[in-house]
Amino acid sequence: MEKIRVALVGVGNCASALVQGVQYYKDTKSEEQAIGLKHFLLGGYHARDIEFVSAFDIDRRKVGKDLCEAVFSPPNNTLKLTEVPKQGVVVQKGATLDGVGEYLKNVIQISDAPPVDVAEVLKATRAEIVLNLLPSGAVKASEWYAEQALKAKCAFVNVTPTPIASNLVWSRKFEDAGVPVVGDDLIDQVGATTLHKTLLKLLSDSGVKITETYQLDVGGGTESLDTLDRTRETKRTIKTKAVATALPYKAEIVAGSTDFVDFLENRRDSYFWLQGTYFCNVPMRMDVRLCTVDAPNAGSMLFDVIRAVKIALNRKIKGSLASVSAYAFKNPPQAEPLDIAEQWFREFIEGKREG
Ligand SMILES: NC(=O)c1ccc[n+]([C@@H]2O[C@H](COP(=O)([O-])OP(=O)(O)OC[C@H]3O[C@@H](n4cnc5c(N)ncnc54)[C@H](O)[C@@H]3O)[C@@H](O)[C@H]2O)c1
Repeated sequence: MEKIRVALVGVGNCASALVQGVQYYKDTKSEEQAIGLKHFLLGGYHARDIEFVSAFDIDRRKVGKDLCEAVFSPPNNTLKLTEVPKQGVVVQKGATLDGVGEYLKNVIQISDAPPVDVAEVLKATRAEIVLNLLPSGAVKASEWYAEQALKAKCAFVNVTPTPIASNLVWSRKFEDAGVPVVGDDLIDQVGATTLHKTLLKLLSDSGVKITETYQLDVGGGTESLDTLDRTRETKRTIKTKAVATALPYKAEIVAGSTDFVDFLENRRDSYFWLQGTYFCNVPMRMDVRLCTVDAPNAGSMLFDVIRAVKIALNRKIKGSLASVSAYAFKNPPQAEPLDIAEQWFREFIEGKREG
């Protein structure tokens, strides 16, 4: 298959897991061998068809380094999953804007290299897809990189919660540029929001009346620290809204990231608490704890999204891709229950849906 040419914006933990993941799965020969992936092949594309052609960051420990070294440079602290050979892609300095929040001022060491012309680098490296992996609080920077993608006529995947794919003005800009856009805020493979919704649906389908429920996280990556500072409320709103769609009635719901515990490193503990009543108003309660590592939790979904966006590019589909966004993102332009989103995604891959 033709390679899928991807540019990385932000070489943090998530980028590290993705780059390592391509190496980890590159020699996989069958569905049975592809343990940990939702799709071994998607639209005929294999994980090894994903090729990184340019990368941007602002931290001096990453800028100027080959991607193979940058993904393991501090403050990245996710798992080492495999060796990464030289990629021939040197991380270039992007514009900082609001990339570094108050709580990360002593963690990120801003490079004093001059910023490059990102749109020109995207064109020169023939990038097809820009993957936005900036901190969730970097709203202005995310918008700025979306502008660079538009200038270079690249598709845009917004992994962050900054409203881009879900914003009509932005999706029109991508439509006008003739390229697709998907987002916002990626759903994890073993996602706390998905698990919460599934538990609520299971109980409510069984006749349980849920009265109160919460889901709160603790994590130790730089993203958890940034969330504590800048995006706690945004994330809470997105997740609470997403979880509420699982119940056909109103209940007291709180869902969202909460706190930073540095020694957890890139690990995340998600706590779920559900309370309701069943037969003859008898009370029930459930306590669940889910333990994951954050960055690898994005890998399988990112493989699917990158391959699906490549399919959209091949079909010359432009603007917001409703099916891919509903399947892979917490805040898509059009939110649908899990089963419908899965069906839309399948239909899109099979060519039975436009976007
Ligand atoms: N499972 C997951 O990891 C997951 C799931 C859903 C969404 N996300 C989102 O993905 C994004 C990335 O998460 P992460 O854990 O990799 O974060 P991270 O903090 O590890 O990485 C962010 C990177 O961006 C760089 N950066 C900051 N400002 C920049 C700028 N202006 N230009 C270029 N680079 C800049 C930082 O130096 C860092 O390398 C976050 O917005 C997060 O909410 C991640």
